[in-house]
Amino acid sequence: MDTVSGAATRLLFPDWMRGVQGRVETALARQLPAAEAIPARLHQAMRYATLNGGKRVRPLLVFAAGELSEAPLPRLEVAACAVELIHSYSLVHDDMPCMDDDVLRRGRPTCHVEYDEATALLVGDSLQSLAFEILARADFADGPRQLEMLALLARASGSCGMAGGQAIDLAAVGRTLDQPELELMHALKTGALIRAAVLLGGLCGTALGADERDSLDRFAKRAGLLFQVVDDILDCTASTVTLGKTAGKDAAAAKPTYVSLMGLERAREFAADLGGQALAALSSFGERSRRLVELTDFITQRKF
Ligand code: IPE
Ligand code: IPE
Ligand code: MG
Ligand code: MG
Ligand code: MG
Repeated sequence: MDTVSGAATRLLFPDWMRGVQGRVETALARQLPAAEAIPARLHQAMRYATLNGGKRVRPLLVFAAGELSEAPLPRLEVAACAVELIHSYSLVHDDMPCMDDDVLRRGRPTCHVEYDEATALLVGDSLQSLAFEILARADFADGPRQLEMLALLARASGSCGMAGGQAIDLAAVGRTLDQPELELMHALKTGALIRAAVLLGGLCGTALGADERDSLDRFAKRAGLLFQVVDDILDCTASTVTLGKTAGKDAAAAKPTYVSLMGLERAREFAADLGGQALAALSSFGERSRRLVELTDFITQRKF
């Protein structure tokens, strides 16, 4: 069976990235219900919210971590789709008027603007269910591993993960959080799903040893926090056109962020530190972690 080692690892990073993005795009289009299947409006909206040019960072992390365990590509593809479906659902709900009230996402009107609020709510619900459905299919992985992966993604998505972080985010509007409080909020609302992506990739192939799993988890936690710190920085430094979402929203909505906590320059230094810590956690993997190293640099330096 095809694994991520071999020819794929010799590709230059941009080519590897495009390859994974294309593969995931095709797989998502196949996993989502057809646009004309009843209820067609809901299915069209699910496709609208998912097949719309996201960076696919979480799928890339699944595939990159899969290199460590010589994971088969078809299994990585399913795990990557599951995480991206949860992520897309989280964005649809995050943009709704009851949350961040945003009108632009991935360069297009947000789901509730293009459709309506009730549809956006149901899109989120349905994408979440689909994520677990595809992981639960009989041919995905052997039983115990499949259950471990299902539980991992469920926990990362729920009230002790992404949804919990979103609750903290909403409760924090207009308040000043100290650094540990902000770190917890970011680690949950964004970090939990990034961490799940990395750990799922690691679980897709040959079992990693306990030390390797610990190192990978240390990497995953640092990378997750890094991702949201960079998101905070970009919100106040990049343009709406570049981001494909409304810039300057955090300050306008009085959200506590790493920029509001420590200022732009220190937030940038903090992001660079986190990137260094993430890379240090990978050191024992050597060449096997090449894609994770490259992705960490991509996340640190991204412009959108
Ligand atoms: C945006 O995530 C929301 C956060 C969790 C910070 P991404 O920056 O990965 O968004 P897409 O998927 O590329 O649109
Ligand atoms: C989003 O954080 C986190 C989740 C969607 C879970 P933000 O609210 O900062 O994300 P953007 O900036 O709208 O993409
Ligand atoms: Mg938000
Ligand atoms: Mg938002
Ligand atoms: Mg943001």
